[in-house]
Amino acid sequence: MARKFKLRPLESSAGNSHEKSGSIDRREFMRMSFNTAAGLITTAALGSVGFASFLMGQSGGGSSDSAIKFYVPKGSDVWYSSMDKQAMTIQAFENEASNSNTGMAGAAGLWSGLPVIATYVPHEENRNKPLDAGVPRFQLMDGYTAGGAYVGSGFEIEEKEEYASLNIHDNMIIVFARCPHLCCIPGWQLVSNDFTNDTWLPGGTDSGGNKSFCICHSSRYDHTVIEKNTARNRSNGQEFDFIGVKKTGGPAPYGMPLIPFTVNGGTIEALPDFLDWYTFCG
Ligand code: FES
Repeated sequence: MARKFKLRPLESSAGNSHEKSGSIDRREFMRMSFNTAAGLITTAALGSVGFASFLMGQSGGGSSDSAIKFYVPKGSDVWYSSMDKQAMTIQAFENEASNSNTGMAGAAGLWSGLPVIATYVPHEENRNKPLDAGVPRFQLMDGYTAGGAYVGSGFEIEEKEEYASLNIHDNMIIVFARCPHLCCIPGWQLVSNDFTNDTWLPGGTDSGGNKSFCICHSSRYDHTVIEKNTARNRSNGQEFDFIGVKKTGGPAPYGMPLIPFTVNGGTIEALPDFLDWYTFCG
């Protein structure tokens, strides 16, 4: 019988002692550790050319490298298993969302070899309905640093021209999937626990399901909350503001940044508008 591991969060003085963690067996742990290692190797390999220049080279010139492709972690049984390395389409997410309690669907993907999570939320259908459990929509909220300092508002994607490409469209967001704690790769429903179950609560709290989940030390992210926050470039120490999803629990210091995208003939293509935002892991 597969041995079960209990993944424990790091010790913290910031009130994390109540947090739950995922329980997975050895096979699952090895599979997702490999997934994390693959991502680290991918990014480490960029060191000599620079992260931003790599992306620009891969996705410039209108080539199909701007397409985001499904990525199926080895050994996992996910709804997109039959579409590994195929271009993501909005239709695929709509189909899967119809099987969901909440109408949501998420998937791991790759953009020019970099890890992303695409999340479909029935925003247009629900945005004018009463805010209630199980009726998800994207929420634009204020962002605060781990120290409690106000950074800015998610509403800036509607108010500021510089963020115009991040306006919500097609019921979808794309997130750069590196955990700002120690740079593991969070997953979407790759483990089953209270955070990842197909439920939803409003307000961007840690309660409710459909969070992305980092198995390394149990950080959680609510992809329905868009906020502004501050990150730090690990290579040069420089701080920068970004628009992203909210961290709701665990040791990660902030959430993960958005990747703007377009839908071209039904397929999802990333835009390299904010490459500096993806440097917090080096
Ligand atoms: S790397 Fe530690 S919680 Fe993600």
